[in-house]
Amino acid sequence: MSKDPPAARAAEHAATADVIESEEAGREGITLTDRFGRVHTDLRVSLTDRCSLRCDYCMPAEGLPWLPREELLTTAELIRLVGVAVDLGVREVRLTGGEPLLRPDVVEVVSAIRALPGAPEVSLTTNGLRLPGLAAALADAGLDRVNISLDTLDRETFRRLTRRDRLVDTLAGVAAAKAAGLAPVKINTVLMRGVNDHEAPALLAWALREQVSLRFIEQMPLDAQHGWRRSNIITAEEILGALRAGGFELYPLGGRGTSPSEDWVVAGLEGEPLGTVGIVGSVTRPFCDSCDRVRLTADGQFRNCLFAHDESDLRGLLRGGADDGALAAAMKATVAAKRRGHGIDEPGFTQPDRPMSAIGG
Ligand code: 5AD
Ligand code: SF4
Repeated sequence: MSKDPPAARAAEHAATADVIESEEAGREGITLTDRFGRVHTDLRVSLTDRCSLRCDYCMPAEGLPWLPREELLTTAELIRLVGVAVDLGVREVRLTGGEPLLRPDVVEVVSAIRALPGAPEVSLTTNGLRLPGLAAALADAGLDRVNISLDTLDRETFRRLTRRDRLVDTLAGVAAAKAAGLAPVKINTVLMRGVNDHEAPALLAWALREQVSLRFIEQMPLDAQHGWRRSNIITAEEILGALRAGGFELYPLGGRGTSPSEDWVVAGLEGEPLGTVGIVGSVTRPFCDSCDRVRLTADGQFRNCLFAHDESDLRGLLRGGADDGALAAAMKATVAAKRRGHGIDEPGFTQPDRPMSAIGG
């Protein structure tokens, strides 16, 4: 004899509620929380350390000794590690590099992450060169947002800065991202003294016209050549000054939250549209107190900070047969050891051994 349908539905509903409740109780206390109370919900995953450009603040002209293929995580390994992090409360995954679009499985990686429990948000930081061919497929796979790195609008400066004559390709990438609906398209710009620092107002005018969201980032000591000098940074303060001197009126938007960017409303120049601009004072206005990020390198090392000196060898654990519980424990231990801040401005600061391209931005 069958139960009457409403009673059966009620019983089923109660059972489901029990499961959800116990899962939530299980999750409580197993978030990636450090000893300063920071909860880590944003995972940056580097898909490869290789890149198609050679930006001066990142790589030497000749490139770097790339990670050997067998040391890179496979697609399945990568998704498994992201899945463990998602079980520990990660809600947003950003794919980075090197240049993440050089990785042949990037579309597959996006859809596999979107298919994890809770459908984490997926975004991507790219130099844009491969977006014309990939933007539509990435959007279809569920990519939410894209950040494109662009430091200059001048072809010769682009060639000098990236050591490749590919400004038109990056601009085509911006257009492709917009056409694919990957809005709002964000642009990351690093200014360097005597190279592109005079372009701040022109870049902002361009971004307002293009309806893309521009963010200036202070240069951090993460270049492979160790050429970074504190005195060479174009600071947040200087950037604001340059934009104002260029004729823009800027009003603080307030509420930085966990975002590293301080956002400003821009009253455009005569005839220019309104918009916003972000300034990331990574060095002079650190945001470590509200940091919610952890990082996984392309070769499966888990890091609690861009500037960390220690990392946890998740690839070794995984290939040694560790279960998800052991992987989660390693992630938690790494987060527990996180320092309060990056300490760039403190005496005794030393740059991490890995350059930015091998960590993931
Ligand atoms: N300092 C600041 N930003 C950097 N990026 C790369 N290297 C540095 C650095 N040393 C930026 C790139 C890219 C993002 C991943 O980080 O421009 O947009
Ligand atoms: Fe490539 Fe980004 Fe490094 Fe430039 S900054 S060389 S685009 S990884």
